[in-house]
Amino acid sequence: MARLKNKVALITGATGGIGEATAKAFLTEGARVMLVGRSEKKLHATQERLNAGDAVRVSIADAADEAAIKAAVAATVEHFGGLDILFANAGTEGDLKAVTDLTVEEFQSVLTTNVVGVWLCMKHSADALRKSGSGSIIATSSIAGAIGFPNMSPYIASKHAVCGLVKTAALEFGPDNVRVNAVAPGPIDNRMMQSVGLQLAPDAVAAIRAQVEESTALKRYGTNEEVANLALFLASDEASYCTGGYYLVDGGYVAA
Ligand SMILES: NC(=O)c1ccc[n+]([C@@H]2O[C@H](COP(=O)([O-])OP(=O)(O)OC[C@H]3O[C@@H](n4cnc5c(N)ncnc54)[C@H](OP(=O)(O)O)[C@@H]3O)[C@@H](O)[C@H]2O)c1
Repeated sequence: MARLKNKVALITGATGGIGEATAKAFLTEGARVMLVGRSEKKLHATQERLNAGDAVRVSIADAADEAAIKAAVAATVEHFGGLDILFANAGTEGDLKAVTDLTVEEFQSVLTTNVVGVWLCMKHSADALRKSGSGSIIATSSIAGAIGFPNMSPYIASKHAVCGLVKTAALEFGPDNVRVNAVAPGPIDNRMMQSVGLQLAPDAVAAIRAQVEESTALKRYGTNEEVANLALFLASDEASYCTGGYYLVDGGYVAA
């Protein structure tokens, strides 16, 4: 079954764990995909691993570089003939510090990538998505979009903000049948959670992981592929009445 047959997707944060797994899922279901990232080297390595020939292109852009994001969308439309799916997924955990220890620069840099970055993607893909007739925007929030964690205030604030953006864009784009949803992963077994563990307790990374796993109902971290499966559903026409939503893929972390 090709659930994304004839669809074109743009994915930011494509060089990361969730982004690459989602690109793979989208390609498997028949989509053509523009991988967007800030590192040319990582983008080409990802493209090579995906091994999908002409169905994959790359575009270099920092998440919050307006001209580069605009150019990435334009390149997608020019090369693939349109845009149906935006996966605004680039994000950073930033430096884990107490509210009282953060500098303005540290706080702002997380908000810039995680919030301004998502907004710019929405802004510059809106015309193309409207033209598609059944566009889908998926933004990566987090369980951090619903609850707090000590020492992660910029990240928590940013992921709550993504939920606000998603609700607003869903209302603005709904009349043109462009759906806008947030995926909210819990702890996923990839670089970002390793970084969080290292920053929280460099000498007790395994203990932190065990503690986080214990906080989920399923007693484990999730995989990139499990997040990709949810993004795939929201990208597909199977989710035709889903918009403005916040979809957890968290092993029951928020419920526990
Ligand atoms: N991992 C988790 O447990 C978890 C849980 C909840 C939500 N999330 C969210 O999931 C999304 C994907 O993260 P991940 O888990 O796949 O972690 P990851 O492997 O660290 O991937 C993060 C991606 O975002 C990109 N990125 C970071 N800052 C950027 C910037 N300024 N401009 C452009 N791209 C930038 C990274 O690019 P580089 O490769 O160049 O660094 C990478 O492609 C993020 O929004 C994250 O907040 C993750």
